[in-house]
Amino acid sequence: MPTSSLDTPSLRKARGAFFTPDGVTRHLAEWAIQSADDTVLEPAAGEAAFLVAAVDRLRALGAAEPVVHGVELHEASARVAGELVADAGGVAKIRVSDFFLTEPSGTYSAVIGNPPFIRYQDFSGDVRDRARFAAQAQGVALTGLASSWAAFVVHSAAHLRRGGRLGMVLPAELLSTNYAAPVRSFLLSRFESVELITFETQIFPDAEADTVLVKAAGWLGEPAGVATLRQTRDATTLGNLDEGTTWATTDPAARWTPLHIQDATVEAIARLMPSGAFVPLQEFGETTLGMVTGANKFFTLSPQRVQELGRVDQEVPLLGG
Ligand SMILES: C[S@@+](CC[C@H](N)C(=O)[O-])C[C@H]1O[C@@H](n2cnc3c(N)ncnc32)[C@H](O)[C@@H]1O
Repeated sequence: MPTSSLDTPSLRKARGAFFTPDGVTRHLAEWAIQSADDTVLEPAAGEAAFLVAAVDRLRALGAAEPVVHGVELHEASARVAGELVADAGGVAKIRVSDFFLTEPSGTYSAVIGNPPFIRYQDFSGDVRDRARFAAQAQGVALTGLASSWAAFVVHSAAHLRRGGRLGMVLPAELLSTNYAAPVRSFLLSRFESVELITFETQIFPDAEADTVLVKAAGWLGEPAGVATLRQTRDATTLGNLDEGTTWATTDPAARWTPLHIQDATVEAIARLMPSGAFVPLQEFGETTLGMVTGANKFFTLSPQRVQELGRVDQEVPLLGG
């Protein structure tokens, strides 16, 4: 489904086009690509941030003129991507298409990328149907509330050969939302190891989303069952990760938020609880994460309406959610 070369900030936002900083692409390419013969796919290639990092990595490992593969919906981005890969000394084979029109190949050593984060309100029609169908084909049932990235993870993995590595930039929603539960379960049951990296600062300030790097190795091997979380400051400090926390769960779809809590904190709480000075927050009432209305156009004021009203100096607390 090629699109025209016309591009604007709002069109880029609609298709989730936020390109990834160098530090992140290099970190994931160096981790996912292990030898000069490795085959690499980028499922939402954009302007080749990952493909250029892949070419650099393959050349550093001894490949003379590496061939890398990509899929990209936006024709002009795909063209720029091809030129940038050539400048880096590689050959790009980029298919201009909806990624969900590709057959799961089961052949790549590494699939790396940063898929579009398009919320369910805007992720609709045929593309969403194809995305859900592709996830379903791998045994993953996504609800209509899932953002686009969820199906990208599943369909990307289906392009790996046995033992392959998946390295992706995903929204931190992966760790905690209900709609991401089948993806959490999928990662822990189909890969041999799952490592997550979170950032203290936002690496995509324009996208207004906290992100997490997912490094899943050993496709179709012994199920990992556990995930390890490491934290770092930003894209420039990925060479300097903390030891991290590892978390095992009997329910693979459970939220991964306990990974955020340091062992020392858990131990301190365990010591304090018997004193009676602390009780679980739940004893004061039901708790819930955030406020999700879904219908943003109805519940929030547009910048234009704010201008019409002049200064808006009162916040009306929202009820329910
Ligand atoms: C977040 S950007 C990332 C681009 C690149 N991976 C990077 O990290 O710089 C997502 C890209 O996915 C493309 N895209 C959106 N929907 C797609 C689809 N269904 N199939 C293939 N590409 C898609 C967008 O045009 C955009 O270039």
